Amino acid sequence: MDQTFKVLVANITHVGFADEICKEMEESAKARGTGIAKRSPAYLQQKMQEGKAVIAFAPDGKWAGFCYIESWGHGEYVANSGLIVAPLYRKSGLARLIKKKIFDLSRATYPNSKIFGLTTGLAVMKINSELGYEPVTYSELTQDDAFWQGCKSCINYDILMSKDRKNCLCTGMLYDPKDHYEPAKTLSEFKKKEKIYERLLRFKQGRFLKILKRNNLIIVLSGFFAWLLIHHNH
Ligand SMILES: CC(C)(COP(=O)(O)OP(=O)(O)OC[C@H]1O[C@@H](n2cnc3c(N)ncnc32)[C@H](O)[C@@H]1OP(=O)(O)O)[C@@H](O)C(=O)NCCC(=O)NCCS
Repeated sequence: MDQTFKVLVANITHVGFADEICKEMEESAKARGTGIAKRSPAYLQQKMQEGKAVIAFAPDGKWAGFCYIESWGHGEYVANSGLIVAPLYRKSGLARLIKKKIFDLSRATYPNSKIFGLTTGLAVMKINSELGYEPVTYSELTQDDAFWQGCKSCINYDILMSKDRKNCLCTGMLYDPKDHYEPAKTLSEFKKKEKIYERLLRFKQGRFLKILKRNNLIIVLSGFFAWLLIHHNH
């Protein structure tokens, strides 16, 4: 099925899809009960006009998926953010196609930049691992205040700030063009730890979340799992 999607670098002809994409981003975040860095339709339109976004369409021309590039720390880092696949087209390999396209676009546009992402999603962690990203502590991500400001619209922002931006519910992942493992290695590491990731996500999304958050235990547990994930690699 994935061969039938059109996955393109977005341009000015796609700006009319920005409203629909934004709505789906918000609804999906609500449904998952997790936070996102909210973006306006105008912001997505700008990304399309700058050639810094990827858009996907189903064979009948319906919008099917989206992702965009943001640059931080004067180009030292880029993030591939806002990944979304329309519900109808999920679990058919489309996110993998979009992430590959935006990764290649990022490498071509910003060849010297480190590429990073923050995510609570197992699918995204898996796809990132296939591309050569590895899990890292937040200290290895951009320290650009403007990036972290984007987390303000996330429901977990108070947790992030209470930890001086050193930890939160998201896992940080990084691809450093100058110092990275081959994708086969990062993927096999991911597979070894997939069960740990699953347990971590269950903790974060489970019914104990409120209690854990209130007592700050979620951060202790997240820190512990992050430590396991990162130190097993080395
Ligand atoms: C997360 C999301 C982008 C995945 O899109 P998708 O097109 O369904 O993903 P794919 O079909 O390309 O799946 C890629 C891999 O992840 C796995 N996967 C997909 N959804 C998953 C889920 N909810 N939980 C665990 N694994 C999942 C797939 O099984 C596949 O692995 P496999 O080929 O080895 O079986 C989509 O569910 C979505 O838009 N969700 C809402 C927004 C969101 O969470 N964005 C990510 C923000 S960081």
